Amino acid sequence: MSRSLVVVSNRLPFVVSLDEAGEPVRTNSAGGLVTALAPLVIKCKGFWVGWAGKEFTKDMQLPPSKDPTAIAHSIEPSQIIPIFYTDEIYKAFYNGMCNASLWPLIHSLPTLTIFKSEYWNSYLEVNEQYAAAAFEAVKQFEDLNDRNNLVWVHDYHLMVMPMMLKNMVDEANINCKIAFFLHTPFPSWDIFRLNPWANEMLLGLLGCDLIAFHTNTYAINFIECCYHILGSRIDKQEMLVEYGNKTIIVRALPLGIPYNWFENMAKASPKPFHCKETIILGVDRLDYTKGIIHRARGYERFLEKYPECREKVVFFQVAVPSRTDVDDYRNLKDELEREIGRISGRFGTAEWTPIKYIYNNIPQHELAGYYRDARIALITAVRDGMNLVAKEYVACQIADPGVLVLSPFTGAGETMHEALLVNPLEQEMLADTIKNAYDMKYHERKLRMNALQTREKLFNLDTWRDSFFDAVDLIDSVKKMQS
Ligand code: UDP
Ligand code: G6P
Repeated sequence: MSRSLVVVSNRLPFVVSLDEAGEPVRTNSAGGLVTALAPLVIKCKGFWVGWAGKEFTKDMQLPPSKDPTAIAHSIEPSQIIPIFYTDEIYKAFYNGMCNASLWPLIHSLPTLTIFKSEYWNSYLEVNEQYAAAAFEAVKQFEDLNDRNNLVWVHDYHLMVMPMMLKNMVDEANINCKIAFFLHTPFPSWDIFRLNPWANEMLLGLLGCDLIAFHTNTYAINFIECCYHILGSRIDKQEMLVEYGNKTIIVRALPLGIPYNWFENMAKASPKPFHCKETIILGVDRLDYTKGIIHRARGYERFLEKYPECREKVVFFQVAVPSRTDVDDYRNLKDELEREIGRISGRFGTAEWTPIKYIYNNIPQHELAGYYRDARIALITAVRDGMNLVAKEYVACQIADPGVLVLSPFTGAGETMHEALLVNPLEQEMLADTIKNAYDMKYHERKLRMNALQTREKLFNLDTWRDSFFDAVDLIDSVKKMQS
């Protein structure tokens, strides 16, 4: 691969923390972004600009990876350009602008959104820092005129950085494309305009040559934002936005999973559940967008309405700690634990606990066993950009197929039609859908799962990467049309 690549994301493919002796240790991250991008960065000897977590400070050396099985294991320290946050920046940029302002807004939950100018100022400052770091990496490309030079920016933390970077590379006369992928939803313009800095963010993104989203809905929402908020000329048919004398390509590129990798892990993973009951599984970061409280109440209604199912099922919820310094996340943990206690107290017996709850991050090779042995997966987010867990569950159904219960408010829900789709906001419907899933006969489960598996196998992670680079290759043709 001749492409010169810089990947830019808020998180590096690993987190650095301190062990008991105070020595820095590197924990490789799992998840879609790392799995998708680490092999690329390794293959083309590219760079990765990002943050290694709040415990990694400027005076430390980047520790080597100790886990040879980790996907990002062989990224060399020289390929990593770390960004450091001060305590104030961590609070105002990461906890503030990213996770208290933007996260709820882009998930169309504006009543949870808090805007503060100090958050915005730190967002600008951090984005400037990222642009400068990416520019330093670009200057190390082999051929500064190569049309394959590419900076690929990820996610809502870095929406104004593309224009900052574009100005730097243009001024230095370097040939470099800038592309962006958003891993979250993009809301309708009527929601996005509540953001006091909506103009600045859209203009920042328009520094890109290509902007990609998980779904067509998000892509169209973005295009309409440019029209309504900036007054840009747009072409919804060709998915283009014009800014000044530049045309920006907008695309829907739904993220897929490394299907065979999950399937193989499911074959090798040990048995996680040692009980006779049917397992109903939830796996999420502990985030209010994931609808975990609604899910627990839907399950409660299921136990209430269908007493014959009591003692025959266990709802197993994995909740990964997330953004624990943000109030809404802390409150959610308290509320969820209260609800789980209440429901367990209401229906539990000396022999049976209706809900089991793990507050921890489970490595994917173990998670594959959880997916495989769960008869029902409850993926009932109130809003989710894609939801990879839904796809991973499907890939791991290697024997007696289970049932995927899925919210239509996830990106995955836009294509995984053979799941049992249910509005998670209404308890009765959720309870009845759990019952349908519980009662579903082998033949129907098999038919639905086969169809889901065929699609995910086909539109896997490699397909996503290929379609991204196909879209990057269109940039030159669009530029030619302009000139
Ligand atoms: N995951 C994990 N361990 C866990 C729970 C989740 O490694 O205990 C991974 C999971 O395999 C998936 C990712 O975290 O790849 C979650 O991605 P998703 O798109 O579902 O949600 P996000 O957390 O990005 O909002
Ligand atoms: C979502 C976002 C990612 C983010 C991840 C974990 O998937 O799209 O950008 O990295 O959540 O959140 P965190 O705040 O821990 O990075």
